[in-house]
Amino acid sequence: MSDLFDYDAELRLHNEVFRAAARVGSHDRVLDIGCGTGQSTREAARAAVDGSALGVDLSVPMLERARRLSDDQGLANVTFQQADAQVHPFPPERFDLCISRFGTMFFADPVAAFTNIGRALRPAARLVLLVWQERDRNEWATAIRRSLTTASATPHGPNPFSLADPTVTEGILTAAGFAEVGFTDVREPVYYGPDSATAFDAVLRLWEVKDLLADLDDATAEQAHARLRTTLDAHNTDGGVYFDSRAWIVTARRRH
Ligand SMILES: C[S@@+](CC[C@H](N)C(=O)[O-])C[C@H]1O[C@@H](n2cnc3c(N)ncnc32)[C@H](O)[C@@H]1O
Repeated sequence: MSDLFDYDAELRLHNEVFRAAARVGSHDRVLDIGCGTGQSTREAARAAVDGSALGVDLSVPMLERARRLSDDQGLANVTFQQADAQVHPFPPERFDLCISRFGTMFFADPVAAFTNIGRALRPAARLVLLVWQERDRNEWATAIRRSLTTASATPHGPNPFSLADPTVTEGILTAAGFAEVGFTDVREPVYYGPDSATAFDAVLRLWEVKDLLADLDDATAEQAHARLRTTLDAHNTDGGVYFDSRAWIVTARRRH
């Protein structure tokens, strides 16, 4: 079994909304930030038949998988590069469209990071992001966390909810040189597998879950596993294991 969580399966419904919002044109040069294993980059490349797509990510294993999948699919206009999007010296004004599916919430200094990304975009180029709304609107985060820990401590580590507040996010993007910032509510469930047992294995591969379980002794971990199985059983439907979620499609344009 792969160590990499099957994020594409989890986000199948989100991806439909994201692809429609991205509206990649046939001549577009597309930059995909935090591309992971590259599903969104490959889809952009397929739409940009006379253009191209570049996916950047910090993670070498994810990029290796992204390249392998792109080779398998015979895509000639897609490339992947290991880069920290916050500071990477992208070619200036190179891209017509910047997309990111849940890859832009982890910047230490978001204004600096989006300013850096903006330099890579031609004036008026579009930015289309998918980001999570607040944690307490995301059942996948709250229910799984509740089943694994009784601790009320604030989660540490990367914060996937850092762009949840539209006022804050609009402020960040405006300060970074973007205009026409808009938000569209996305209400699609996330999918963890066809049955509870598969979902259990999938959830244990999530970084946040590994993090939570790492601090527990064996007996406590056993109890947490049992509670997790109960939670997953409760979310098991005829179509598989689903949790509610809320996200934003954030759109903007680089200012002239
Ligand atoms: C939740 S994953 C999403 C991956 C991918 N977009 C997808 O939807 O499958 C977030 C990704 O952002 C990447 N990432 C986080 N900070 C980054 C940075 N500063 N520069 C580039 N990639 C980054 C992570 O390595 C991770 O692959």
